[in-house]
Amino acid sequence: MDMKNIYAQSLYKELGAFLSLSELEKLIETPTYDTHGDLAFPCFVLAKQFKKSPALIASELSATINHPLIERVKADGPYLNAFFNKKSISEQVLKHILTDQQQYGSTHIGKGKTMTIDFSSPNIAKPFSMGHLRSTVIGQTLSLIAEKCGFDVVKINHIGDWGTQFGKLIVAYKKWGDKARVRAQPIMELFELYVRFHQEAERHPELEQEARDAFKQLEDGDEASIQLWTWFRDASLQEFKRIYDLLGVSFDSYHGEAFYNDKMADTIQELDNKNLLTESDGAEVVELTNEELPPCLIKKSDGATLYATRDITAARYRKKTYDFDKMVYVVGHEQRLHFQQVFAVLNKMGYDWARNMVHVPFGFILKDGKKMSTRKGKVVLLEEVLKEAIQLAKKNIETKNPNLANKDDVAHAVGVGAVIFHDLKHERNHNIEFDLEDMLTFEGSTGPYVQYTHARACSILRKAKRDIDIESFSGLTDSYSFTVIKKMLDFPHAVTRALKDYEASHIAKLLLELARAFNQYYSQVKILQHDSELNDRLALVQSVTIVLREGMRLLGMKAPEEM
Ligand code: ARG
Repeated sequence: MDMKNIYAQSLYKELGAFLSLSELEKLIETPTYDTHGDLAFPCFVLAKQFKKSPALIASELSATINHPLIERVKADGPYLNAFFNKKSISEQVLKHILTDQQQYGSTHIGKGKTMTIDFSSPNIAKPFSMGHLRSTVIGQTLSLIAEKCGFDVVKINHIGDWGTQFGKLIVAYKKWGDKARVRAQPIMELFELYVRFHQEAERHPELEQEARDAFKQLEDGDEASIQLWTWFRDASLQEFKRIYDLLGVSFDSYHGEAFYNDKMADTIQELDNKNLLTESDGAEVVELTNEELPPCLIKKSDGATLYATRDITAARYRKKTYDFDKMVYVVGHEQRLHFQQVFAVLNKMGYDWARNMVHVPFGFILKDGKKMSTRKGKVVLLEEVLKEAIQLAKKNIETKNPNLANKDDVAHAVGVGAVIFHDLKHERNHNIEFDLEDMLTFEGSTGPYVQYTHARACSILRKAKRDIDIESFSGLTDSYSFTVIKKMLDFPHAVTRALKDYEASHIAKLLLELARAFNQYYSQVKILQHDSELNDRLALVQSVTIVLREGMRLLGMKAPEEM
């Protein structure tokens, strides 16, 4: 059911000659106050054609609208406000949710289609950065949303495991490295070696050449170099996996940059066959003048390939392997130009599927207004941050509910959920401020608040000890429950909008609104009172648990039943 659509249809009967159904739907607004109705139609747009004042149009229209689910319409100045039939709507919505359960809001938009999502993609031998955290959290929720909308989803972790930095790392390890220390704390140790390389190279510039030679050796397949590289890679991946476990994230493929080493020659050959390569100072580039972009560097004068060469090759490989209908890259907005170039080159190669590729960018994480960085010594290890969040959550739970049985599981769900929700409630393009204490409070616009509301609803159901009969609703008619009903009715729209805009904040915001509406309801209405509406009220509570739980699942969060 779609209230906007119902109202638009009713208006269309009168206004079809002037406005299309979709134009009407777009014009209809949701009033800020329920006393102004559930939906409002602004009549300004018709004033010119009708040669009448909007207020007069509203008042004339009010006599014509007629729909079994619309109780009444009322002209209010230039607006025509519609009041829906609470009883019938709530009955239908509750029935729908309780029948569909966690399928509520699912669609078939993506049925038979494949979406590949490239996300997280950290660089080995470097700490997992805050940017990678955002990519991981956003990529995870987009995968879940796409699946809910019927897509077959392939989650790809395009690990940064190749490049000149490995020359530096090999040189640094050979000079100053210690096997046991790397074993114990691979990423920390390797990163320190990397930082040290740069410090020493300032005083001893010849180190740079050594590193280039070392990388060349690696590229040429030197046994000992490959062995070191494999070790660095495996050790790093193991550390990353610990973070993925904490976050509950998994991937279908870990093919990173190195995977394409033996596949790039073919790409370059293809570019050459299609006469797209131009020489520029000994390097090979694809000119993108028509696209108003700087040339895309494909091969350096020393023969080395680049990040873009790998992405072009990866895209061709993925098309062949997965035959995707949509290919999404969840990567910070600082790489915007890179993806524009990659897509433009693929387009020039004549691949019409290039237009199905999307870069989904996002802003920075800030700490006290400054970009939170994992570089230059001051390393913030993400694993530590997550563990601290879990620790803090545990403290909060211990004061709130000291007798809770599975405190550690709940603390995990709340700590991690807080970090995830804090990220996803913001529009992804915005920069976000990172404040653990803030995101962990149980009041306010936080993950724990939504989780707590869900747990509260679960506890009401436990107390009620009664089955709900969906065949015998008497219909809820109060405005508190109707606010809750309307929010739940919005859930499927939030899901499809989230898919369309690659914007999980649509769902996060809706969950907050639903949680607020439900808490308001809870404070105003005696839910467990024995009267003819008890069955309806419990159905409402149960529906709230279903929608909150499913919404949180889509965001990548857990929903404890008690906390
Ligand atoms: N490893 C890259 C980085 O940390 C991100 C890779 C994103 N994915 C891609 N296909 N380029 O900046």
